Amino acid sequence: MPANLLILGGTTEAYELAERLAGHEDWHVINSLAGRTANPRRPAGETRIGGFGGVAGLARYLDARAIRAVIDVTHPFAAQMGWNAAEACQLAGVPLLRLERPAWMPEPGDRWASVATWEAAAEALRQGGARRVLLAVGRQELAPFAGIDGLWFLIRLVTPPDPEPPFRHVEWLYSRGPFVLDDERALLDTWAIDTLVCKNSGGEATSAKLVAARERGIRVVMLQRPVRPAEVATTATVAATLAWLDALQSSAYQRGV
Ligand SMILES: NC(=O)c1ccc[n+]([C@@H]2O[C@H](COP(=O)([O-])OP(=O)(O)OC[C@H]3O[C@@H](n4cnc5c(N)ncnc54)[C@H](OP(=O)(O)O)[C@@H]3O)[C@@H](O)[C@H]2O)c1
Repeated sequence: MPANLLILGGTTEAYELAERLAGHEDWHVINSLAGRTANPRRPAGETRIGGFGGVAGLARYLDARAIRAVIDVTHPFAAQMGWNAAEACQLAGVPLLRLERPAWMPEPGDRWASVATWEAAAEALRQGGARRVLLAVGRQELAPFAGIDGLWFLIRLVTPPDPEPPFRHVEWLYSRGPFVLDDERALLDTWAIDTLVCKNSGGEATSAKLVAARERGIRVVMLQRPVRPAEVATTATVAATLAWLDALQSSAYQRGV
């Protein structure tokens, strides 16, 4: 009988992993989504939606559903869930793996200023001689930038913010990635952007803006990823995660579990 596998999702890689495990003889997949999106796309397998109620709630869930292993595939900027998973899995004695796409690394020609908070990013704009800024950040992350005087912002979001923060000189742009290089080049040129602000999401869907910025010598204020529990084993790809799961099942068979 397949063992229960909990995937903490909300990312492209989580959908891909669930898809690859569909119908697997060893694993029954339970996908967990936080419930931030009104009508999320359903991953392959069983899906549950909503928080667990902190570490204790997750530990209870692992026990109640006899979860054999947990894969944390939450977004690199989901700051809390990985910590909860590490603690709950330790309490419940359940193996945990983190699947995280690699962070972007600066390349020759890049002019990156690395910051740890959005407040520090706003300060870097104040200090750094920026004039025309592309803000490629989330709806919830705009507030620290709204009070900066003397700058013009192009703000790219998936959906409009509600309420709209009080930017004085702003153009709003609504679009969803992936973004291709020629379009990113045109965007930076059309609006004469001199500074880009974004977070280090990694992956290819939104990396073209960094290439276009490098080509133009545009400064990038880059938010670093939040710290994660160092003791949790981590893979960078779905393939490596599947190999980890195979190894886990093999050792369980050898032990007669
Ligand atoms: N932050 C981003 O930039 C970003 C971008 C794209 C997608 N996402 C996805 O959106 C979700 C929420 O992001 P966040 O930044 O609010 O995360 P977070 O700060 O790490 O988590 C906050 C709380 O949300 C609940 N939660 C988070 N992920 C969950 C999951 N997969 N299943 C069930 N509960 C979950 C947990 O509540 P309880 O303590 O009650 O269990 C957690 O304590 C994540 O699953 C993430 O993968 C986030």
